[in-house]
Amino acid sequence: MKDKRVKVGIVGLGRLGYRHAENLALRIPHCELLAVCSVAEEEVKQARAKWGIPYGYTDYEQMLENRELDAIFIASPSEFHCEQIEKALGAGFHVFSEKPLGLYLEEAERVEEAVARHPDQVFMLGFMRRYDPSYAEAKQRIDSGEIGEPVLIRCYSLDPAGKLDSFLRFARNHYSGGLFLDMAIHDLDLARWYLQAEAEEVWAIGGSYAYPEFAELGDAETGAAMVRFAGNRIGIFVAGRNCAHGYHIETEIIGTKGTLRIGTIPERNQVILFNETGAVKTCAEGFLERFEQAYLREAEEFIRCILENRKPSVSVRDGVESTRLGYACKKSFETGQLVRVKF
Ligand SMILES: NC(=O)c1ccc[n+]([C@@H]2O[C@H](COP(=O)([O-])OP(=O)(O)OC[C@H]3O[C@@H](n4cnc5c(N)ncnc54)[C@H](O)[C@@H]3O)[C@@H](O)[C@H]2O)c1
Repeated sequence: MKDKRVKVGIVGLGRLGYRHAENLALRIPHCELLAVCSVAEEEVKQARAKWGIPYGYTDYEQMLENRELDAIFIASPSEFHCEQIEKALGAGFHVFSEKPLGLYLEEAERVEEAVARHPDQVFMLGFMRRYDPSYAEAKQRIDSGEIGEPVLIRCYSLDPAGKLDSFLRFARNHYSGGLFLDMAIHDLDLARWYLQAEAEEVWAIGGSYAYPEFAELGDAETGAAMVRFAGNRIGIFVAGRNCAHGYHIETEIIGTKGTLRIGTIPERNQVILFNETGAVKTCAEGFLERFEQAYLREAEEFIRCILENRKPSVSVRDGVESTRLGYACKKSFETGQLVRVKF
């Protein structure tokens, strides 16, 4: 494995794709970013020039014809994930896809079948929180019994108000899936991972309070879902786009013998300013900053899985089940009804 390099092509060079591309080009061992692809020609030109990438494409299918590539990294808008995953698997590549797996259950299940048809290819989904050191440590502590039986999970995923314009641009150009499928999806995955249980029923509510633009998009600016998981375990999920103090990602897991909390103060670092307003801690500004390490670690794991011929712990099933639950939350929000997650 010493000299072996996995040759990767990435599709999508936007807010997150650019960071993934930079990591793959410069920071991931045994990886070579050989091709970049985006419908925006300028992005392709810039990426090629910046990191000296040999191949650039504005057409995804043309990139798939490049037989020098081993793997495809998908960071395009969510509505394209399923189709692009199926095509890349069909063309014989290992595939990493950003979350969510799909915006509809049917397409997510189709991808699951496609992954099953290609057992020798690695498929990994970008649930990067599982690779964040704090979330990974919480998982180890739960699994070693430190909080007894986990019975309740409470999650906050709040995007910063300061990045609202960039989100609205994204949501106007592309179908994001809405607050629950786009934003709360990470928490839905973490809940399944920590509780080791599937969701049974959900009630979700939400609204647009400071920004009517969300209602115009059929979406919510702030919302909450309460989920009953198997074994009467409880999930409380708060998601929003208008957090004044920054990017607030917080998780609490209550067990029969103890409680774990992650990110209660979403602080940027250890600096505290004491002044006439009190003790002030600056908060993280967004996902690129808060999950910098997690994006690196998940990409490292993808490349290692290919080289070591093994499968990552985040499976396509995790993608299907989180989409099923996210979709049920969305349906409950839209209809005002309690929704059974599995029929
Ligand atoms: N894991 C996370 O924390 C996280 C954070 C942000 C975004 N995401 C996910 O990453 C994906 C991309 O989000 P983003 O915020 O970077 O979006 P973005 O709109 O900033 O970027 C999208 C990129 O894809 C390109 N593109 C659009 N349509 C294309 C097509 N048909 N074929 C090829 N390229 C195409 C655009 O030109 C752009 O380069 C989304 O699915 C989103 O849900 C995940």
